[in-house]
This record gives sequence, structure tokens and C-alpha cells, in this order.
Amino acid sequence: MPSPAAYQPYRSVLYVPADNPRAIDKAKGLPCDAVILDLEDAVLPDHKALARAGAAHALREGGFGKPVLLRLNGLETPYFQADLEAALLSAPAGIVLPKAEDPASVRELHLGIPLWLMIETPLGVLRAAKLAAVPGVAGLMVGANDLLLSLRARATPGRLPLLYALSAVVLAARAAGVLALDAVYNDLQDGAGLEAECMQGQGLGFDGKTLIHPGQIAAANRVYGVSETEVQAARELMHAWQEAEEQGLGVVQHAGRMIEELHARQARDTLGRWEAEQRGE
Ligand code: COA
Ligand code: MG
Repeated sequence: MPSPAAYQPYRSVLYVPADNPRAIDKAKGLPCDAVILDLEDAVLPDHKALARAGAAHALREGGFGKPVLLRLNGLETPYFQADLEAALLSAPAGIVLPKAEDPASVRELHLGIPLWLMIETPLGVLRAAKLAAVPGVAGLMVGANDLLLSLRARATPGRLPLLYALSAVVLAARAAGVLALDAVYNDLQDGAGLEAECMQGQGLGFDGKTLIHPGQIAAANRVYGVSETEVQAARELMHAWQEAEEQGLGVVQHAGRMIEELHARQARDTLGRWEAEQRGE
């Protein structure tokens, strides 16, 4: 587990179309943990150059107070080279690569800026472990809309058709020691559905959720964040563990449950994440 100082929460990661200056400006004041300036799906072909310039301007100007990632168009598209050049010049906190499938081409892309890979094709899911292990990769993100399309699967409330892929992404990310972010929730009116999907993703092991609208940030921060109850429980457990150590015990009973060193580590991790979340708020 990382040292507390190394924590950077990614509970809520908001996509902002890079050709929308009003939304970019708005994103600066929003309580999401990170922003993705999008050059890809949210931008029409004849707006690609405008979006690239908009992203470069926003990155130069700064003022977001949180990491800003840049999503490029895919490797196979005619926009990729210009997008990559813009990224190298404006140095975002990370580059998001859509439809990642080939570990060799991802390896070539590592030019000093952390890489976030979108897993959103059948081949991407099957190769997720190899992709996550490429040096320079900071995290994986699920692209559920593209994945459903290419699987010819159906979007259902419990996401049963996607469960294998979602777990494959978490497994791959955890095995490589990188972050895993869940897919976007398309229905902007359905707060209960969003909440349920955040809880499902968090339960599967994701670190946070990618989002499309400011109204989705609070739910992701709440579900993926550390609650007051968890903080209190972690503090009490740390206290009990300290006493156990002083008595030379490697396993004790606390609040009716067995605790060992691994539970103390988990509690320390919870407190570290909570402190990092407080710093950002
Ligand atoms: N980031 C920052 N601000 C956003 C935003 C976003 N993703 N989505 C909406 N807003 C802002 C709007 O600009 C508006 O601001 P204003 O009150 O200052 O005018 C406010 O939030 C309310 O927006 P609303 O009217 O509810 O939505 P909309 O119709 O303007 O936009 C979408 C709806 C879906 C077009 C928009 O949310 C969006 O572009 N989302 C991101 C899409 C994307 O990037 N997709 C690619 C990844 S899947
Ligand atoms: Mg996509």
C-alpha cells in the first residue's frame, strides 16, 4: 500500500469536451478529483482542431487545482499524431489512450507522461493484464459504451453482461499496482441508478468512477470516499492494534472480530486515503 503522502484520490473523474470552453471553465471550480479533457468521442470530426487548441490553452492556463488528463483520439485515427504532439507540448497530468489493445504500441507511447488506458474492446479486456503492466501506465479505465457495442451485449441495470470485463480490469490493475476507474453512467436523470452503479463498482474494487456531468460528482465522492464511520473504526482499530503490539500479541479480538497486522495496515490505508481526500476539499 502506498505511503499516505502518495495518495491522490481518483474517486470522481469528470470528462469535459475540449471544444467546450464554458464547461472547461466550470470544471475548474467543481469538486471532482480529476478532469479529462476529451478530444475523442465527445468531439465531432470538424471540431478536432478546435478541441486540440482548447485543451492546449486550458492546460497552459491551469487553475484546475486537480490533475487534468487529456484523452487523445485512438492510435489508428488520422487525429492521433497531432493529438500526441499537443499532449507533449502541454504536458497534462496524464494521457488517456482509447481502445488500448496492443502492449507494444503502448510501450512506445510512454514518453514521460503517465498513461491511462481505456479498456473498451474485447481484445483490450483479454489483454488487460499485459496492458496494465507496461511501464508508465498509471491506470485503466473501462469504456462501457464501446464495450457493449463491440460485445453486442445489452446495457442492463446490474451490468451482468459486463461483470466479467469489469472484474478483469480490476484484476489486471491490482496485479500491476495501478488504478482502476469504472465506466460512465449515461442517464443524467437517474440519481438512484448512478448511486447503485457507484456502489457496485466500489464493491468490485474500482478506485473511482469516470463521470460526464457535474451532477454526478457528489455520489462518486461519497461512495468511493472514506466515510466518518470508517475513519472512526480505523482509528479504534489502530489503537487496539497498538495495545496488542505492546503486549507482544500478533492476533487479538477487537469489536468482536479477529484482527491481525493486515487489518492494521488496512486501517492505516483508510486513514491515509481520508487525509488525502480532506486535502482536496
Ligand atoms: N463538465 C463541466 N461542466 C459541465 C459538464 C461537464 N462534463 N456537463 C455539463 N456541464 C455544465 C454545463 O456547461 C452547464 O453549465 P452552465 O450552467 O454554466 O451553463 C451546467 O453544467 C449544467 O449542464 P446541463 O444543462 O445539465 O447539461 P448540458 O445539456 O449543458 O450538457 C452533456 C449535457 C451530456 C452534453 C454534457 O454534460 C457533456 O458534454 N458531458 C461530457 C460528455 C463527454 O465528455 N463524453 C465523452 C466521454 S463518455
Ligand atoms: Mg470509447
